[in-house]
Amino acid sequence: MIIAIDGPAASGKGTLARKLAKHFNLAYLDTGSLYRAVALRLVLDGDDPNIEERAVEAARKLDGSLLSDPGLRSGKVGEAASVVAANLRVREEILDFQRRYAASPGGAVLDGRDIGTIVCPDADVKLFVVANPQVRARRRFEELKAAGEDVTYDTVLADLQARDARDEGRAIAPLKRASDALLLDTSELDIETAFEEAVSIVEGRMNA
Ligand code: DC
Repeated sequence: MIIAIDGPAASGKGTLARKLAKHFNLAYLDTGSLYRAVALRLVLDGDDPNIEERAVEAARKLDGSLLSDPGLRSGKVGEAASVVAANLRVREEILDFQRRYAASPGGAVLDGRDIGTIVCPDADVKLFVVANPQVRARRRFEELKAAGEDVTYDTVLADLQARDARDEGRAIAPLKRASDALLLDTSELDIETAFEEAVSIVEGRMNA
């Protein structure tokens, strides 16, 4: 079984995806962390994420050890990730890895922006997880603050809206709900309630 979960930043999709993978005993891939790892490589090397050759090279040599680096979650790396994610050649480098992962024996849960539309268009279940920008900014603000970053709610909200615009507006693989994806709005839901809804959506699809 392949479960594809897409949605904007801080919508709760990552937490849901991880919990669903555990519940249904499936492998789990956070595809955003792949773009973040490419971005982190560039940031560490002092390279500009807008320079295509550098970004493509970093994607080609994607370093697995960076996937667990705490620096992956910083605001700066998130910004750079959204720049490299708009590059077609970077996306092509990362596509194969994601498709091979999706073919894991026993199945997998992948979360990102284009899983239901591009990476796994034939996924058994597709969820599109959303929440309003204020709720998402509040969640991201708490996360960054807990990680010791010096941020304000207003700048987090502004950054999030800029990233939404970039993720939705880019020509290549934009953030978009697949026509057969089910919408889950977590604005008013705590994580346990959202998870229960997600489980019942998946079970509904499995039994259909
Ligand atoms: O979900 P995230 O914030 O960790 O993602 C980091 C960046 O990568 C974000 O700008 C969107 C982009 N991304 C993407 O374009 N496609 C995916 N499948 C996953 C993430």
